[in-house]
Amino acid sequence: MTRVRLTEYSHGAGCACKLGPDELSFVMGAVQDHASTTHTALLVGVQGSDDAGVYDLGDGRALVQTVDIFTPVVDAPRDWGRIAAANALSDVYAMGGTPMTALQYLAWPRDTLDFDIAREVVRGGLDVMAEAGCTVLGGHSIDGPEPTYGFAVTGMVGTESYVPNSRAEEGDALILTKPLGVGIITTAIKRGQCPPDVARRAIETMMTLNDVAGRCLAQGGAHAATDVTGFGLLGHLREMCLASGVGAMVSTKDVPVLEGARELLQLGMWAGGSQRNLKSILDFVDSEVGEDDLRVLADAQTSGGLLVALPRDSVDEYLHLVAGSSVIGAIKHGVGIKVIP
Ligand code: CO
Ligand code: CO
Repeated sequence: MTRVRLTEYSHGAGCACKLGPDELSFVMGAVQDHASTTHTALLVGVQGSDDAGVYDLGDGRALVQTVDIFTPVVDAPRDWGRIAAANALSDVYAMGGTPMTALQYLAWPRDTLDFDIAREVVRGGLDVMAEAGCTVLGGHSIDGPEPTYGFAVTGMVGTESYVPNSRAEEGDALILTKPLGVGIITTAIKRGQCPPDVARRAIETMMTLNDVAGRCLAQGGAHAATDVTGFGLLGHLREMCLASGVGAMVSTKDVPVLEGARELLQLGMWAGGSQRNLKSILDFVDSEVGEDDLRVLADAQTSGGLLVALPRDSVDEYLHLVAGSSVIGAIKHGVGIKVIP
């Protein structure tokens, strides 16, 4: 098999190649009131800003559905496949759901990239689906200009136990379950300037499932949860705040950041998607920290951790059960996000 750098075939990296929050809300204006997006069984739909839709089956159970697809975020095909699968599953976990089935999607530039590489991508994706206990039922593939891969995932959740991003309460602790910095590091990978050990740790983080973090939501009585992906920590926190009618405080020193990310940021490793993120949240943020700290907090993540609004009395147990999780702030009364050192 020829050595190729998959990220050279991608114009953006992972969730950083998403549409920006403002672009997305403009386009999705078209679906808000459409007849196809409303139904009495719909518990969570496109009207909100949740990670996945929730559809009541009428017997105490509900379907949780989501789709996530992106271009190469790392160079090794199998790692990319694994990351794409972990990322797609994450939206189900963020709702407190259990993944059941998935459909796979692959676009491949047949004239420029070997099909051996595509097989490796798919192997990686399927390995992670197996690890998650999620059955892949089928999928779709096309000849496309950029390699693109991902899954539509369907899960189950109780109609009383799903965790939207819209019920955060004043006084809740804010918990993050994975370190930030993935967008900075994948930008460096794409530019061929990432130290291998830094890349390896970021890849391990992205391949890690949010399954435990998701399962522990209901147990801890979490009020709200979302996964941190393309809009960065501050962008996803803003969505939670707006949906819940609350504000928040983030303590920068408590936010875990991948080793090497800050150094790479100083070298200019900063994705276009992250720049758009920072611009779009500035009005909502009252910052007492420097530009670089804000950049880390706005960094577009791929397969990031869960951001959870948890009642104070459940915090110790959640931190104990979910490896790598930390308290990074709190939900506050009012509007906006205060960022302190
Ligand atoms: Co999400
Ligand atoms: Co998603």
